[in-house]
Amino acid sequence: TKSKLKKADRQAELNIIADQVAQCQKCPELASTRTQTVFGVGNPAAKIMFIGEAPGADEDKQGEPFVGRAGKLLDKIIEACQLKRSDIYIANILRCRPPGNRNPSDTEAANCRGFLDAQIEIVDPDYIVCWGSVAAKNLLRSELPIGKMRGRFYEYGRARVICTYHPSYLLRNPSAKKNVWEDMIDLFQDMGIDLKA
Ligand code: URA
Repeated sequence: TKSKLKKADRQAELNIIADQVAQCQKCPELASTRTQTVFGVGNPAAKIMFIGEAPGADEDKQGEPFVGRAGKLLDKIIEACQLKRSDIYIANILRCRPPGNRNPSDTEAANCRGFLDAQIEIVDPDYIVCWGSVAAKNLLRSELPIGKMRGRFYEYGRARVICTYHPSYLLRNPSAKKNVWEDMIDLFQDMGIDLKA
C-alpha cells in the first residue's frame, strides 16, 4: 500500500522538483520558446494521477496543466467520475510547450522523464491514467496505437495504469467519449467504485 508520507511533506518534495524544472535548459529549443514551465498540479497525495502530453498555448500562459479547451473537457470527465480536479494529481510527459504544439521528440521526452518519475515517486498514486498515445507510449514504452492499449491494466512501479483517448482527440471525435467512459468505469470498478450506480 501507499507510503504514509504526509501531504505537506509530499508537497514540499514536489516544490523542490518544480524549482529544478523552472531552471531546466536540457531542451534548448523548448527552454528558449516557453513562457514558463508547467510542472503539475493537484493533490500531492492523490490516489489517481493523470498524465497528458505537453503544455499547449493556454498552459504555457497560465503555468498549469490542462487549463485550455482539452482541460475543460477533462474537468467534465473528472466531474462525471464524481471527483474534483483537486482530488487528482495532473502532470504531462513534457513540462514545456513544444512550438506550434508539435509532438514531443524522443529526446525531449527522455530529458523530461526524470521529473515525471520524481512526481510519480513522490505522489505515489495507486492508479495512473495515460491520456492519449504520447503519454501511453512514453510511460509504458509501447509502440501500439492508443486504441490497442485501452482495455487492460498495466503496471508502472507500484501503480496500476490505464490508457485512454486524449481529451483533444475527443474534441475532434466526440463519438469516442463513450469509450473513455467505459475506461473510467473499468478504472473505478478496480477501486471498488461503481460509477454506473
Ligand atoms: N494537452 C495535454 O496533453 N496536456 C496539457 O496540459 C494540455 C493539453
